[in-house]
Amino acid sequence: MAVIITIDGPSGAGKGTISRMLAKKLGFHYLDSGALYRLLGLAAKRHNVDTGNTKGLITLAEHMDIRFDITAEGSFKALLEGEDVTNTMRTENTAVLASQVASHVNVRAALLKRQQHFATAPGLIADGRDMGTVVFPDAELKIYLTASTEERAQRRYKELLEKGEDVSLPALIEQVRSRDERDMGRDASPLKPAEGAVQLDTSELSVQDVMDTVLNLTVVKGLFKSIHR
Ligand code: C5P
Repeated sequence: MAVIITIDGPSGAGKGTISRMLAKKLGFHYLDSGALYRLLGLAAKRHNVDTGNTKGLITLAEHMDIRFDITAEGSFKALLEGEDVTNTMRTENTAVLASQVASHVNVRAALLKRQQHFATAPGLIADGRDMGTVVFPDAELKIYLTASTEERAQRRYKELLEKGEDVSLPALIEQVRSRDERDMGRDASPLKPAEGAVQLDTSELSVQDVMDTVLNLTVVKGLFKSIHR
C-alpha cells in the first residue's frame, strides 16, 4: 500500500522544490510528471514528429526509452535513449514543447499507466498538473500550490540564470503566462485544483513555510502521528 500525496499547480509555484524535499523527508518515491512530458517533447523533436501529430506522439509515448536516475551526489538525472538530457530537458524551449504535446487527450492517456506505476510503498509524492484530478484521484492528500505570475516568472528567471541560460525577464513572464493559459485552457485534463485540494499561495512564503504547512497537513490528515522537523 502506498500513501499518495499530490502536488499540482502552475510552473514556478514551488512544486518541484517542495515535492523533492517532502519525498526525502518522508522516504517516499517522487514522480516528476512534467519530466515525462518534457522527455516526450524532446523525443518528438529528435524523431521529427510534429507536435500536432497525435498518432506519432502516442507511439512515442508508448515506446520511448527513458530512465530517471539519482546520481551519487543525490541529484536527478534524465536519460532519453541512453543519453543524459537533464539540462536540455529543463530549458524554456523544452517546456513549450512539453505543453504542446501535453494538450492531446490520447497522448495523456498513453502516459497514464507509466505515471501510476510510480505508486509503490511506502508512498509517492506526485508533482504535476493533473495528479490530484486524473492520475491519482484517490490520493490521501492533495495540495494545489500557486503564486502570482510575476513571482513565478522571477523564480524561473533566477533558476535559468543560475543554469547559465540566456533569458530576458519580460519574455519569460510572457512565456509563463502563455504556458499557463494553454495548460489551464485545454480540454484534456486542464490544470485546476482537484476537489478537496488544499490551496496554498506561495508568493509571500519561504520554502520552509510551505514545507511546515504541508508537513502539518500530513499530520492533520492522520497520515503520520507527528513529524520531527
Ligand atoms: O512541470 P513542468 O514545468 O516540468 O511541466 C512542463 C509542461 O508539461 C507543463 O507546462 C504542462 O503542459 C505539461 N504537464 C502536464 N501535466 C502534468 C505535468 C506537466 O500537462 N502532470
